[in-house]
Amino acid sequence: MEDLKKFYKKSYLDRKDIVAKKSGLNLHSKEYSAEQDSLIENYLFNFEMPEGIATNLKVNQIEYLIPIVTEEPSVIAALSNGSKMFTNGINAVAENKDLLGQIILNNVDLKQFETWFKFNEARLIKIGNKSQANILKYGDGIKKIKLRKLSDEYVSMDFLIDVGESMGANMVNTILEAISNEIENYNSEITLLSILSNYGEGNVVKANGSIPFENLDSNPEIGKLIAQKIVKASDVAQLDPKRAVTHNKGIMNGIDGIVLATGNDLRAVESSVHAYASKSGQYRGLSNWSIKDNSLYGEIELPLPIGIVGGATKVLEDAQTNLKILKINDAKTLMQVIASVGLAQNVAALKALVTDGIQKGHMSLRLKSLIISVGANNQESEILIRQMQQLTIKEQNTTNAKKLLNNLRNK
Ligand code: MEV
Repeated sequence: MEDLKKFYKKSYLDRKDIVAKKSGLNLHSKEYSAEQDSLIENYLFNFEMPEGIATNLKVNQIEYLIPIVTEEPSVIAALSNGSKMFTNGINAVAENKDLLGQIILNNVDLKQFETWFKFNEARLIKIGNKSQANILKYGDGIKKIKLRKLSDEYVSMDFLIDVGESMGANMVNTILEAISNEIENYNSEITLLSILSNYGEGNVVKANGSIPFENLDSNPEIGKLIAQKIVKASDVAQLDPKRAVTHNKGIMNGIDGIVLATGNDLRAVESSVHAYASKSGQYRGLSNWSIKDNSLYGEIELPLPIGIVGGATKVLEDAQTNLKILKINDAKTLMQVIASVGLAQNVAALKALVTDGIQKGHMSLRLKSLIISVGANNQESEILIRQMQQLTIKEQNTTNAKKLLNNLRNK
């Protein structure tokens, strides 16, 4: 492993050669991107994922084209279908865009520290805000600092920081470290760590919308029955964590897709959302469905720590393109659209589950990608899907897809 020593210091081409040699692969066709190399360490190549556009989503009276990056067939079709069900679109509100931060203190005499803190709070806020030249240009900076006793040994200084249009992780960490340095001047023994918290109470988004029964089935009586079943499915996700996890995974199918497409931090969003789903002490569904005014009414509430400036959102050209496709220029609007994506994705999944089951849709999309992969065009694929559906699952393979395509073309 001699050649792996100081791997990070080697040139891009040397790194690529070493990996090619060790894996026995030819990596020549893999192209270099300075843009992506600038983001991570030991860059090798760009990992490609498909991106598609979901249609029909209307949020606060504006219709959006939604870029979704996903490897899962049926996510985009389901999102477009779910979005179409809301005749008047979805209403969404993102009131705040604050990120939490923590300075964890240990071995601290809380009473004594409280007295020092009260006297110095305004000065600490000034120092924190000054450490981030840009923060007050876009947001309000530090809004609140609270002391919270965790145990006899630990105290958390909880910060609520308005981070403006950015996701805010770097901003918050810089602010916390500047304040922590100042606390060290007071007592160098008590600071343990300073870091943002992904707990999302500062950036909660709410969205809701109504679906007339006839949008669930052309026969409104059947539509009503489907709506009642969706309400039951939503109740179960409130009762049972085992079901809630999958219910929420369906919501995240669309949310992750748009979060990735806009260059945002997927890990931050995922950890934040799932912690929020447990805020009552039990993990629950993030959405709730009920019957209201002869319609199916859905609500969703979740935190979304995202941004539209800074980090990968700025460096990745594709993320910039996707923001232009969305025509979104501010982070709160993006939060509202992302929450609405979650609600529409959720109702599409629940409707499929309480009616046909999801396999029917999944299987025909799986067949479609198989058929396209052997070279069929869209028109041919429609005929071939029907023919392949006559075969057993085992027979639905590439060889038979090629055979059927040949037959069709030589007819
Ligand atoms: C599959 O990716 C998502 C679903 O399992 C969501 C759900 O069960 O609600 C269909």
